[in-house]
Amino acid sequence: MKKLLSLMLAVFLAGCTARTPTEQKIRIGVTVYDQYDTFISELISTFNADIAGRENITVDNYSASKNQLTQNKQVQQMINDGCNVICVNLVDRTEPSRIIEAARKAGVPVIFFNRELVEEDLMQWEGLYYIGADAEESGIIQGQIAADIIRNTAADRNEDGLISYIVLEGEAGHQDAIVRTEKSVGTLMEEGIQVEKLGSAIANWNRSQAQTRMAQYIDQFGTDIELVLGNNDDMALGAIDAYKSSRISEEDWPVIVGIDGTEPGLKAVIDGDLDGTVYNDSRGQAEAMAALAYALAAGESTENLSLKDGKYIRLPYLRITAENAADYLEQASSQ
Ligand code: GAL
Repeated sequence: MKKLLSLMLAVFLAGCTARTPTEQKIRIGVTVYDQYDTFISELISTFNADIAGRENITVDNYSASKNQLTQNKQVQQMINDGCNVICVNLVDRTEPSRIIEAARKAGVPVIFFNRELVEEDLMQWEGLYYIGADAEESGIIQGQIAADIIRNTAADRNEDGLISYIVLEGEAGHQDAIVRTEKSVGTLMEEGIQVEKLGSAIANWNRSQAQTRMAQYIDQFGTDIELVLGNNDDMALGAIDAYKSSRISEEDWPVIVGIDGTEPGLKAVIDGDLDGTVYNDSRGQAEAMAALAYALAAGESTENLSLKDGKYIRLPYLRITAENAADYLEQASSQ
């Protein structure tokens, strides 16, 4: 009997030891909406680098290739494989219910990031979180950068008192596309800039789609275009590609402003092709996601992560122009 009791005690203690978080291998699952998205791939490479610097933790990386059904299956797979926490960059931000259902059933927390689900969905279960940024803020900063440049240069080339602009928009229905466009143009007007819209085209965050659309606008409006607002850097870079292949000489290019501060975006600001951008803190978001995922998996407190309403982490956007772009690029390449 004594022997049996000590055997039971040994088994119990072994069980407790196995559950000690720091010694147990933590497995994090990540699925992104599209692995070819520049901003998302920069965020994920910082996340993977952060995780690689921690002990006893591994990551399973998936891309949903823009298919929500594929992503739902990937999440189920990660749950079956024993992931302790799953990070989801939703394909369709209005369709998180299958993922929430599966995660809740298995008791596996989910950190959604970058593509923001509505609050009611996030409130469905206590194990759901969101990491991203405040879309409004990026639109406001983009509008301010554009307004400052317009006031201090001969942006109004035909001197009619109006700035004629084109907007290159991200995906229809994405929070960052709708809100950025609205706030950016709204801020320009609040800053006292009189504007005239020549056109807006959806280019799905994509450089070559933006180049195609911009080439059409250049054919249509020529040098009448005085400002191009890109909902992200890749699309602003697509506009620059279109100008480079056009017959319009560089001194007749419009003011062009992006959002993200990706490496190619920062290089274009340094080269003087892109007039400014707004830093969408991929590093801060990736580091917050690694810290939160680790804390949740290890059962540690999340108090020092300052979650808003116990659920949200939003990193601030920052203004980037020729004056500070090199500092950001240096930080990005020092990782
Ligand atoms: C935005 C970012 C875009 C694109 C998009 C994907 O925040 O500015 O470049 O990555 O997210 O959801």
